[in-house]
Amino acid sequence: MLTFYFSGHNFEYEARNALRIFDLNINYEIKNIVQLKENKELGIVSTLEEKEGVLISTSLLYWDNDLLYSSKYRSDEILLEKDNEKKLKKILIVKAMHQVLKSYYKVIPDYGILTGVRVVKIMLTARKYGNSDEKIKKILKETYEVTDEKIKLLFDIIEIEEKYIDDEVNMNNYNLYIGIPFCPTKCSYCSFTSYVNCNDDKINAYLDTLVYEIEKTIEFALNKNLNLNTVYIGGGTPSVLNEEQINRIFKSIKKFYDLYKIREITFEAGRPDTLSKEKLICLKNNFVNRISINPQTMNGKTLKAMKRNHTVEDIVEKYQIAREIGFESINMDIILGFPGETEEDVKHTIEEVIKLRPENITVHCLAYKKNSELTRESSELLKDYELIRKMHDVIKEKSKNHGYKPYYMYRQKNIKGNSENVGYTLLSKESIYNMIIIEEMETILACGIGASSKIMTEYNKHVPVRNFKSLEEYSARIDEIINKKKKLLQ
Ligand SMILES: C[S@@+](CC[C@H](N)C(=O)[O-])C[C@H]1O[C@@H](n2cnc3c(N)ncnc32)[C@H](O)[C@@H]1O
Ligand code: SF4
Repeated sequence: MLTFYFSGHNFEYEARNALRIFDLNINYEIKNIVQLKENKELGIVSTLEEKEGVLISTSLLYWDNDLLYSSKYRSDEILLEKDNEKKLKKILIVKAMHQVLKSYYKVIPDYGILTGVRVVKIMLTARKYGNSDEKIKKILKETYEVTDEKIKLLFDIIEIEEKYIDDEVNMNNYNLYIGIPFCPTKCSYCSFTSYVNCNDDKINAYLDTLVYEIEKTIEFALNKNLNLNTVYIGGGTPSVLNEEQINRIFKSIKKFYDLYKIREITFEAGRPDTLSKEKLICLKNNFVNRISINPQTMNGKTLKAMKRNHTVEDIVEKYQIAREIGFESINMDIILGFPGETEEDVKHTIEEVIKLRPENITVHCLAYKKNSELTRESSELLKDYELIRKMHDVIKEKSKNHGYKPYYMYRQKNIKGNSENVGYTLLSKESIYNMIIIEEMETILACGIGASSKIMTEYNKHVPVRNFKSLEEYSARIDEIINKKKKLLQ
């Protein structure tokens, strides 16, 4: 148990996030009055005070009333992208806590005090406010304490993403997301909304509502004169649908657009055990020009342990069929940090994936999802800082040697190594949708259960519309969602 004692502030959320960078297992409580005599085990006294116009934040880490570590930060030492007193206070508090936690846990996190999902977005916004790259680097390094290696990764990503940034074009575009919440089995690490083993009646009933939502959504977008940029059919596992069901979805888009003119249509055909030659041909006939076939790992033992009902051979076989049919852009997702996997396992996975030469490889780090079987059943949630760093080094070296460049990244809560997910691409083969959604560059109109639309009203301003998360509610209350979208797109 760790007790935070606050004085002069009440940043509970920030304290919790700072602690979770280092430890996912320890419980904590917050007390507002400094009563150190009460302190049992671990305690952090965090104070914020103002002296002669300067804010001063202090953190003292105690173990049973013995002071182990202390740190202090002053507001006149902090460099920010723009003036913002609340943000400045938060940063001061977090930096001081982070400093004592770093000493206690003996870990230096690669992303420093940052806990949010979108790191590149901070940089793009800072640029927009007129900050030079030099100043941005300084802020990342000195204020947020990001390592030089990660700063380089972030700037490499910006180099690719900036080609897609154009205020006028971005404002007039929209991207259509279609969610298919069905999977063949539930993988133990996953908590995405998905129903397993559904019969055709259930799936067809879902498609009735989905197709209705897609058509209404496109009508509203057209009324608003938005241009369709990309389509992304994700999940779950959209490839659980049969050919007739897949055609039904595309028929609804075809009512409004020539599919062959759409710049990017991605279909997540993630699980090889859902694929057949006929299904892949059906996708090709519907002008899908990007698919995912996801190994997650090329180690059969891990696939089994993670309850992914397919083999390594299935992955290779389905990948080859997709190539024969003529898919020119294939993505493969992998995950680092599966329980029991070593640096050598990751080396094997990336080597086998690179042999296949997919255009995109998306490298995730295992995140402990609250509702996953893996999290529920793990006695300890390990951060594995050093192991993840070594795994990343293997990926970095292999991808670089074979012509893959990082083109987008995002971070997740409770991710191993407090690390990141990175999309790699061969030259000019980057997925436009992925960059757009992560950097929130354009409007996303999303259809399906659990899907989330973000309607861009001005630069950096988005109004969200969140769909219902259960099949029953989604179908019963679809008109509420449609009306919300209609209002926002008038
Ligand atoms: C929405 S899932 C859909 C993919 C598809 N159903 C499949 O399993 O191949 C997208 C990706 O998120 C990643 N993912 C899912 N759960 C994760 C977790 N707990 N930690 C890290 N990555 C995860 C996997 O790489 C997965 O391919
Ligand atoms: S990882 Fe993919 S197939 Fe597995 S449960 Fe999650 S969405 Fe479904």
